[in-house]
Order: sequence, then C-alpha cells, then structure tokens
Amino acid sequence: MITRRTLLSGMGSAAMLAQLPTRAWATSPAKPLQMPPLVDATNSGRFALTAQAGQMDFLGRGASKTWGFDQPFLGPTLRLHHQSETAAEVSNALDEAISVHWHGLVVPGDVDGGPHQLVQPGQTWSPVLPVDQPPATVWYHSHTHGMTARQVQMGLAGVLHLTDGQDDARGLPTDYGVDDLTLVLQDRRFDQEGRMSYDLSMPDQMMGFLGDTMLVNGQVGATAVVPKGVVRLRLLNGSNARIYTLTLSDSRPMHLVGTDAGLLDRPIALDELTLAPGERYEVLVDFGAGQDVSLLSGQNINEGMMGGMMGGRGPSGPPFEVLPFAVDSAAPVRMTRVPDSLGGSRPKMDASNAAERHITLDMAMGPGMMMRRAENRFSINGEAFDMTKINFSTQVGQVEKWTVSANMMMHPFHVHGVMFQVLSENGQAPAPQNTGWKDTILINGQAEILMRFTRPAAEALPYMFHCHILEHEDGGMMGQFSVVA
Ligand code: C2O
Ligand code: CU
Ligand code: CU
Repeated sequence: MITRRTLLSGMGSAAMLAQLPTRAWATSPAKPLQMPPLVDATNSGRFALTAQAGQMDFLGRGASKTWGFDQPFLGPTLRLHHQSETAAEVSNALDEAISVHWHGLVVPGDVDGGPHQLVQPGQTWSPVLPVDQPPATVWYHSHTHGMTARQVQMGLAGVLHLTDGQDDARGLPTDYGVDDLTLVLQDRRFDQEGRMSYDLSMPDQMMGFLGDTMLVNGQVGATAVVPKGVVRLRLLNGSNARIYTLTLSDSRPMHLVGTDAGLLDRPIALDELTLAPGERYEVLVDFGAGQDVSLLSGQNINEGMMGGMMGGRGPSGPPFEVLPFAVDSAAPVRMTRVPDSLGGSRPKMDASNAAERHITLDMAMGPGMMMRRAENRFSINGEAFDMTKINFSTQVGQVEKWTVSANMMMHPFHVHGVMFQVLSENGQAPAPQNTGWKDTILINGQAEILMRFTRPAAEALPYMFHCHILEHEDGGMMGQFSVVA
C-alpha cells in the first residue's frame, strides 16, 4: 500500500511527516511513477508546445483546474541535440498572456522567452533556438512578470534534455523512463475538496509558497520502478520556493554526474544533495543489490534561517519522503557500474580582465515588508525590478566576476544567457555540488561566480538575473541586462 506523504506547511502547522516508510514490495507497487511524454527533436529539428487548460485529480478526491503544455499539467520532456538549430512553436490556448523561457539554454536574448516576449491568448511564438553548449538537463517555464509564480504553480513547466548521443559510450544510462529518469520535484497544497490551491499566507509572501504535498512529475504517492542496476536521476527542483536536502533512506551514495549546465569530469559520491528552485542535478544510484530505497528530503532549510523570527519553527523536523523506489528484479539491466570518468570539461576562464559586479539580494522583513506593494517587496541592490530599466550592459566575449550576497535567508540566484563557474562560497572553495557548470546557485551568505558572455541580448529583449524563489522574482528580486554584440 502506498500512503500519501505530506510535509510541513504553513505557519504554526504542527502536522509534519514523521514516520518513514518501511515497505517490502511483494508485488509491483500500486502506482508506478510515469515520466512526462518524450518529444525527440534531435532529428526533426522542431517541436511545438501548446499551453492549455486541463484538469487533474491529484489525490483521487476531485479534479483540480490545471495548466500544462500539450497535456493537463506540466509539459513533455523535449530532447534536443546540444549543437543544433531547433524551430520551436509555442502556442497559447489559455485566456491570459504567458511567456516561455528556456532556463539553461544559452541562446540570444531575442529567443530567450523572458517577460518581454509575451505570447498573447490565441497567438503563436516561433523562435529558432541556436543551441551550442555541453549536454545537460535544462528546463522551460513561464516567465510572465508578476505572474510567473502562479503560472508555474498551475503547471507551465517542463524538462529539456540536451544530448550529444555519446552517453552510452560514457557509461551513462539513456533509456528514457527505464534507467534514465526525469524527476520534476514540486510541492503543492490542496483544499478540503482535494483541489490544488495557491493562497499565499503572510509567511508565503515573505518566504515563497510552500506546499504540504509532494508531487513528482505531477503525481502524488507514486513509486519509481527501477531495474537492478545503475539508474540515472535527472532531478529538477520545479518548486516555487522549497529547498530540498536530498538523501537516500539507507544512506547509499548518490553519484553526482551532472550539474545545471553540463557533466562533471568525474562522478562525486554524495550523501546529501541540496536542490534549490531552478537547479538541476544528475545523479546515478546503484540498485544492483536489489534493495528498495526512498529518496528523502529534510525540511525546507529557509525555515531554519527564519525560524527564530517566525515563531521558532525550524528545519529540525524529520525528513519526508520525496519518492520511493522499487526494484523490479525481472527488468533487463543495462548499466551495472558507475563510470570512473565522464569527460565533462570546465576549462579555466581567464579572470584577469574580468569586470566585477556586486549583487545584493534584498528583502525588507516583517510588517515593513507587508506595507509595501507586492511588486516592490524585494529588490536587488536596493532596486525592485522595473521592466523599463536596463540595470547594466556588457559585451559578447566579456568575462565577469559577480559577488552575490544575501542575508536573512537563502536565495537561489539565476542568470539568463550564460553558464557560470563558482569561484567561492563564503570565501571557501565551492561545495562539491557547485564545482560543475551552473546557471543557478543557492546563495547562503556570499558566493563569487565567473562567467563569459557569448550571446547578444538587445536592450529591447534583455536577459534577466533574479532569485528563483518565484514569489521573490515576481516581487521585484530581478534585474535585467543587455549584451552588446
Ligand atoms: Cu528559470 Cu529567469 O528563470
Ligand atoms: Cu533562465
Ligand atoms: Cu529569494
């Protein structure tokens, strides 16, 4: 039997997921986890997405109104060649404007899909995406200013794989949904009737929306069925605000093979992996011993930082279950070992002529914050996002070193149109999980990041940089910049 797992939510809520599951699968699990449908554009060089309204009965207690791309909730997994030109077609069958941003694709500003590129109801946007970057797991989601949080919460998000076709040679699992699993982690809240709800409580308005129910690929209470071998998990934190600290219930390691924007040089065995909104990590898990296991997460770490101020609730609650795995011993096994090397490269960037920028993610706290207008509660370097203002301009080929700081809480910081290397975190060498190519980094204090711009973005269609807690982004913790060719 599979029980629905709930996690901590809402201020002062005493309910908290306490027990961890103990289970033995005598037969196959009642509800096997489904993958998003796969749309392979590597040969066709084109794909089409339609944003549409639908219904989902997440809990088996009644239908929720949802949005998705080509389906009721979330979108298909798109597979693109990592060096290709792909013609996208994004149609909007909803009754409000959306935009679709390719988070992690390093493409010019005029096809980046930010808040200046609205797709009105009934319209189709047809950008051609010139892709030329390392293989990686990236994603796409709505980016409509002031609406991003709700539109993503409704389901406007999906995953995109960039492939070079060489993963078999690298010893990485590639059988979609069999030993290569795409996992979109999201938390949601449901009302008495089992309908998905998005009411922002006062703490949600400060910290971002936190749900009480775990969804993986839009499913509640599902079990991933895996072969008795090495399995690849492509993890995306598609939550509005929740930060996961992932572990495996029997303490077996997760072998980190890829970060946001590419593969590592060699796998790194981790006991715990922090996954902030917007981030992706690829890990290998060895099921060769045939033992079932659960992917767990600690409580949202930002609640610990805020705990004192917000009534003493901290992240000290027990872990909750994100996703159980059940081994199917009869399934064919393709991969039996974790490869020694992956061949991902992260060449040193010459920082000697780097332009330096200092970026501070700010928020007012408590009543002072609540007195501000919603779109002005958060800011970067003291300024809330202004669609009409370009915060700075840089050039193609320019190397930049950004020092990004945050206090009060942790903020996942994302930059469009570039991938970066983490030089330091609080003056120390970066955490192992931040040693690969990144486009989003959880700022816990201060980090220095180094990047080189390769694509142009005009002032009319600039790139964004922002906190990926979506309520912070919508609330003004975002800026924009142009890159001159
Ligand atoms: Cu994933 Cu600017 O966003
Ligand atoms: Cu982005
Ligand atoms: Cu933030």
